[in-house]
Amino acid sequence: MASSKLLSQPRWHRFLPRNLSRVRLFSDLPSQRHVSEPQNNGVDPKSNNNTRKASSTPSSLKEPELAKFSAIADTWWDYEGPFKPLHKMNPTRLAFIRSTLVRHFRKDPLSARPFEGLRIIDVGCGGGILSEPLARMGATVTGIDAVEKNIKIARLHANLDPITSNIEYCCTTAEKLVEEQRKFDAVIALEVIEHVANPAEFCKSLSALTAHEGATVVSTINRSLRSYATAIVAAEYLLHWLPKGTHQWSSFLTPEELTMILKRASIDVKEMAGFVFNPITGRWSLSDDISVNFIAFGTKETNEEQG
Ligand SMILES: C[S@@+](CC[C@H](N)C(=O)[O-])C[C@H]1O[C@@H](n2cnc3c(N)ncnc32)[C@H](O)[C@@H]1O
Repeated sequence: MASSKLLSQPRWHRFLPRNLSRVRLFSDLPSQRHVSEPQNNGVDPKSNNNTRKASSTPSSLKEPELAKFSAIADTWWDYEGPFKPLHKMNPTRLAFIRSTLVRHFRKDPLSARPFEGLRIIDVGCGGGILSEPLARMGATVTGIDAVEKNIKIARLHANLDPITSNIEYCCTTAEKLVEEQRKFDAVIALEVIEHVANPAEFCKSLSALTAHEGATVVSTINRSLRSYATAIVAAEYLLHWLPKGTHQWSSFLTPEELTMILKRASIDVKEMAGFVFNPITGRWSLSDDISVNFIAFGTKETNEEQG
């Protein structure tokens, strides 16, 4: 398993809140290999049981957020559309995921299919823009999303390639799969937590889906002044990268808050990186700067019986 020991204290550690000082940042890491609904309240309309079951876990669904994604579901695979920023960020997110999971699960870093043998769930998968490359890297992928239209688009697109046609897509929520006692080696939720009803409960569901000694990866946007200026004012109002109102600044989490709620859910954050955009090259890259977009890798630390 990857060690959480800090190799050095880079400059960013001086500015980190105390509970992040044990987290390895991007520049601490071994060399990075860059690789190129239910809107009906958690009930899958295709499932055999369409009656809403009483659940002990609060729903993660925030209806106005789901409506926004449903309205633009047809554009998931339009590289110039509203999801262009996610498409552009994808190679960078995959580089972080590949590097952390390969080390954690002791996989061959040089393999073209390093995730062979791993069960990975992509929670809030949208149209499948992360699920597909994970499947191409050899993982057995389950993609879930609360918006049925997203799942339909994801399914149609994945069927275009025999490798990705094996992805299991399902319109459901993390908490529903917890009730079904599903477990995965790695649980990934990118750019979802800022859209859910209760981030702490959502993290508990992510943790419950994570197998003993498994990994959890979460990315989101920091609740900082810089994120207000860049992720909302610039991205939504000046550059029109995203539809206006995509993000609510108050729903963002600081890296410290995310680390704390994951810790309370038995996920120990071990590594973190920021994503920074270079306006000259038009590319994203990994960085120690976690002041706007950031990603966290954690491992589940429980007894096997609890796991
Ligand atoms: C910004 S998109 C991110 C999509 C994908 N994870 C990615 O990064 O490419 C957020 C996605 O989360 C989904 N979502 C929002 N709340 C959810 C919930 N409570 N459970 C499952 N999916 C949810 C939305 O429908 C949307 O597809």
